[in-house]
Amino acid sequence: MASPEQRINELLKELKQHNYQYYVLDDPLISDSEYDRLMQELLHLEKEYPQFIRSDSPTQRVGGEALEKFAPVTHRYPQLSLDNVFSLADLEEFDRRIARAVFNIDYMAELKIDGLSVILIYEHGKLINAATRGNGITGEDVTRNVKTIKSIPSQLKTAVPRLEVRGEVYMPKKEFQRLNEEKEEKGEKPFANPRNAAAGSLRQLDPDITANRALAAFIYDIIYCEGPLIENQQQALQFLESEGLPVNPEYLFCRNISEIYQYTQKYQNERYSLPYEIDGVVIKLNSFRERAELGATSKSPRWAVAYKFPAEEKATRLLDIEISVGRTGVVVPTAILEPVALAGTTVSRASLHNFALVRSKDIRIGDMVIVRKAGDIIPEIVRTLPEQRNGEEKEVTPPLFCPACNSAVIQIEGEVAHRCENINCPARLKESLIFFASRPAMDIDGMGPAVIEQLLEHKLVFAIDDLYQLKAEDLMQLERMGAKSADNLIKAITASKDMPLHRLITAMGIRHVGAKTARQLTERFVSIEDFINASPEDFLEVAEVGEKIAESLAAFFAEPHNREMIKNLQSSGVNTVEKQGRPKEGALAGKTFVLTGTLGSMTRQEAGEKIESLGGKVINSVSKKIDFVVSGSDPGSKYQKAQELGIRVLDESEFLEMIKS
Ligand code: IVH
Repeated sequence: MASPEQRINELLKELKQHNYQYYVLDDPLISDSEYDRLMQELLHLEKEYPQFIRSDSPTQRVGGEALEKFAPVTHRYPQLSLDNVFSLADLEEFDRRIARAVFNIDYMAELKIDGLSVILIYEHGKLINAATRGNGITGEDVTRNVKTIKSIPSQLKTAVPRLEVRGEVYMPKKEFQRLNEEKEEKGEKPFANPRNAAAGSLRQLDPDITANRALAAFIYDIIYCEGPLIENQQQALQFLESEGLPVNPEYLFCRNISEIYQYTQKYQNERYSLPYEIDGVVIKLNSFRERAELGATSKSPRWAVAYKFPAEEKATRLLDIEISVGRTGVVVPTAILEPVALAGTTVSRASLHNFALVRSKDIRIGDMVIVRKAGDIIPEIVRTLPEQRNGEEKEVTPPLFCPACNSAVIQIEGEVAHRCENINCPARLKESLIFFASRPAMDIDGMGPAVIEQLLEHKLVFAIDDLYQLKAEDLMQLERMGAKSADNLIKAITASKDMPLHRLITAMGIRHVGAKTARQLTERFVSIEDFINASPEDFLEVAEVGEKIAESLAAFFAEPHNREMIKNLQSSGVNTVEKQGRPKEGALAGKTFVLTGTLGSMTRQEAGEKIESLGGKVINSVSKKIDFVVSGSDPGSKYQKAQELGIRVLDESEFLEMIKS
């Protein structure tokens, strides 16, 4: 068992990572309730062992760091966060603490909108600045972006001399769904929840992007007001509303905790029928004078608290596992569930992401499982209920063949995903084509995603090599494609036939093989046949190629559909040799060396540079294909391997002789 200090350090590390994912990348790895659980554990331990509280603990800080790309805005007052509570007992404890300090306890209960906090400044009724909360002290200037949000007026109803307010920018559920569908269509990663979508949309350097995402806002706090005297939250909300600012209408004046608790329960049930996400209720002391009596800690005011809703979880049966192939060839298992009402929708499927997860959670067909929605949106299986098994449940294994094209499914060492390696697999063809034709690949001008989509729709292309069979008449069937553009496109396709081999290798979209690696590979493998005939060990001879890349290359070129495609490309006249890849001139041209042991007269690096300057090549591993092993003192296993393979071993003086000249 970890000691309290060790556990605190662990939690700090984890929370730091999650804070970064959440606040800076807008891309959380865990659900909000899991985050809250970690935070509560830390708070609890720190309370019990205050000697281990570290100054960099997230409990001691106010919030996320500001991104550097927007101009910084320093807030007039620190913009604090709220302490969380999770139960009626917690609420009562909060109430008791307040009762110790103040006499008149009236509360305002409001919905806790799940978005991101913004601070707006109006001068003489005109919006002059908008900033994110950032770390509470300094935020980001997002004025131009906020001005695109329709519900935020750029002009108040009256010319209040100065008004600074705080509110929440959020993305309505409908817009969140629309945006994610659009992202998925483009093959981009969807947002995990509306909060991240709102943050990601607001923190865009290009305000046009923000404008195209229908964000909205609710204002809930007056930070500073040079105008009418406002004495409590009720008046504040009414005033904000009267000035035309968007105020959430669901607020309720409450006289005691039981009324507040009722309010929390009402919205815990109704939250799923609201058009925006809420993750709890905020309870605020109404009177501003009494708030001032209570004050704040460095992190949160003592006069307010957030009651967080638990994530809804339900048990249901896993009926089957469906296997599909994604756009990049990844084979994805999806759980088919007995439909269950959860967090406002009926859930009947949940992605299981990969087979490693299925194994680690020991998920079996026929199991009763607990489901919830990650970020309250995306259904996921939390765990199975093995105690409810009757022995008829079936274990799940990765498929051996692709469900879309029947090619072998492989898993590359060290990767979680199983993949179909057939570049022309119908499930991946569209993405393969888009990439093949793109600028860093074969650079076919005019062959963009829209044209490719139509080529597939019109059944003009079933595999990449079909591109080279297209005629101008075929293309003229496509929308907005006149004779001239069709002709130009054919010219571009034809021109791409002369691309050097490294472009073709890049264009094949082999996992882990980008443009740079392709170029390095074609220095050693100068024709496509060299690639087809190479073993993973041969690929490893290229200095920059590690096991993962070597395995991926070998798997790609072993795939029969891929070989067939290469043959077809060749018969269509596509170049498959590296024209620039001729061996360099020099005394050691074409010779390959492996260095081992310590040389007396130079370092291994210097020896390598010398060999290369004379046109030779240095690689890391010994195989039959190399010419010499240069062995200094204390040689390693490479020396032995060279002996076994009968490769000429040079000692230092022989080597120096060879490089003299
Ligand atoms: S009051 C000093 N009221 O919840 C207190 N916050 O966990 C200022 N939030 O950072 C916050 N709805 O982003 C308040 N009706 C509401 C809210 C609300 C959502 C957010 C806000 C805050 C976070 C605290």
